[in-house]
Amino acid sequence: MIGDIRESKECQLKDPMDLFHSGQVVKICAPMVRYSKLAFRTLVRKYSCDLCYTPMIVAADFVRSAKARDSEFTTNKGDHPLIVQFAAKEAQVLCDAARIVCPFADGIDLNCGCPQRWAVSEGYGACLINKPELVKDMVRHVRSQIDNPKFSVSIKIRIHEDLKRTVDLCQKAEAAGVSWITVHGRSIEERHQPVHYDAIKIIKQSMSIPIVANGDIKTLKDAENVHHLTEADDFLPFLLDCFQPQSTSGGLSTGHRGPGPGPSPSSEETKGRTLTLFPGFISTARDFII
Ligand SMILES: Cc1cc2nc3c(=O)[nH]c(=O)nc-3n(C[C@H](O)[C@H](O)[C@H](O)COP(=O)(O)O)c2cc1C
Repeated sequence: MIGDIRESKECQLKDPMDLFHSGQVVKICAPMVRYSKLAFRTLVRKYSCDLCYTPMIVAADFVRSAKARDSEFTTNKGDHPLIVQFAAKEAQVLCDAARIVCPFADGIDLNCGCPQRWAVSEGYGACLINKPELVKDMVRHVRSQIDNPKFSVSIKIRIHEDLKRTVDLCQKAEAAGVSWITVHGRSIEERHQPVHYDAIKIIKQSMSIPIVANGDIKTLKDAENVHHLTEADDFLPFLLDCFQPQSTSGGLSTGHRGPGPGPSPSSEETKGRTLTLFPGFISTARDFII
């Protein structure tokens, strides 16, 4: 069960599955191309982010090219727990990529949600929600070829117009051994339309693995609302993506005015506040990333 958001504290757990079963709200830095690189992850971890994703990395390039590996993936000892997100369309390529990052990360995630035209036309991202057998095959292959049973294999999806197809996809992935599923509650065509939290609730009710809610969750208050809108019972963990760079003004109070981030704010300070970081901190992160 998710913990009371108002009581959420900085979580020291390093194993993602332990986090999901901790009874605390789990604050996750979503995968974001160009943003969720090492510098940004280091920053948000100072603001009590529990789990970070890398940006999406094309697995085939990563496996093929040392140059791609060097430019797409950097990490360090403090960068845990860490999920490396891949775009892939072939099981063996995803396995090979997973094997490369396995010593440095806590799991991999298969992107089944990117709606960009280039990705879909290459057979990556959101088009995979229409290929449940392939998703199942990819998950099963990684599960069977990576020796470490603690290494997670997750997927991030969008929803279908016909929700039965999404539930079928999720159940197939669960049967193949997926560790958790992040559901961005919009269809492939939707961009800024309201998120279908009712759909996330139905998916959650149909599954026994952790489901991570995603879409339009910018503040702890949003997280609390989404929790109430989607909560199905007291037993399944329910998780929320919160950390994203924002262009709006205002931000998380740190009680620190210097050039770098100060101590993590207490849960009292963050209650109902936006998780927006100071724009200055964002541009600092950007300087490192770009
Ligand atoms: C700049 C940016 C880059 C993103 N890159 C990725 C990515 O690499 N992989 C992915 O699965 N989603 C990516 N997303 C989507 C987010 O992870 C998340 O699903 C989405 O922003 C949620 O919707 P919202 O922005 O309405 O809250 C990206 C989003 C943004 C804003």
